[in-house]
Amino acid sequence: MTKVLIATEKPFAKVASDQIRTIFEEAGYEYNFLEKYTDKSELLNAVQDAEAIIIRSDKITSEVIEAAPKLKIVVRAGAGYDNVDLTAATEKDVVVMNTPGQNANAVAELVFGMMVYQARNHFNGSSGIELKGKKIGIHAYGNVGKNVARVAKGFGMDVFAFDPFVPAEAIKADGVTVLNDRDELYSTCDYISLHIPATKETIQSINYELLSKMKNEATLINTARKEVIHEEELLRFFRDNDNFKYISDIAPDNKVQLEAEFADRCFFTPKKMGAQTSEANINAGIAAAHQIIAFLEKGITQFKVN
Ligand code: 3PG
Repeated sequence: MTKVLIATEKPFAKVASDQIRTIFEEAGYEYNFLEKYTDKSELLNAVQDAEAIIIRSDKITSEVIEAAPKLKIVVRAGAGYDNVDLTAATEKDVVVMNTPGQNANAVAELVFGMMVYQARNHFNGSSGIELKGKKIGIHAYGNVGKNVARVAKGFGMDVFAFDPFVPAEAIKADGVTVLNDRDELYSTCDYISLHIPATKETIQSINYELLSKMKNEATLINTARKEVIHEEELLRFFRDNDNFKYISDIAPDNKVQLEAEFADRCFFTPKKMGAQTSEANINAGIAAAHQIIAFLEKGITQFKVN
């Protein structure tokens, strides 16, 4: 019997796990859920007989791949796969896939939840500001960026985007103004929402110099990856700019310091939670389960990333 491991340190909602169970039962697969694990050794132990693994932000390192001699496929139930060692996977002929778009709406909704919270002074009762009529700049127009644009229009915001990898016509078709210069996006908008992946090129790319392009009262929103921020320079920028605000669902390593110095100008969720909705868990979890079965039964490699 094919054995699948669902390894989620941050578990799916129960309704999603139940549906994943049903899919594998109907396919005649064995499955095992490893949830809320606290030590890498638990993962290393659980992967030993797995032929397929579903993960979220769980780290699939070369050590994990070495510990899983039967492994054929890893599906990251989500968009970003920077948590998987693609080189190690490819060396062992392990296919890696993601489930693009499946949790995009959840992330986009959280962007606005945090924006309203910040705009209304952390709901402390004092007069805040409205989003209507403000300019939002979407840095990278993938699935999440596209959903952010849709919701932003509902708020009556002016929507701008910068993404050299997406054809301008496709962005314009959504009623979004395309800017071909990243600095111009930062200097034009009141809100900048980050949707770039963590890659060699983007890690620490949101640095003092780029932040300096932002408008005086601007807010940076990060629901992408904490690694894209140059955290030391972010701290320095906060100190030098009294009106700058930063909100994120992936707290920086210097969160305690930022919160101590700039309590009213920053906000971090206690856990990464952009994709933490039942709907996103169902969408991404089911897609992952179906992709595993399609690959193992029919060799279908749609959404392969290595
Ligand atoms: C993603 O890349 O899909 C998001 O960052 C969600 O990550 P999560 O599954 O760990 O919540």
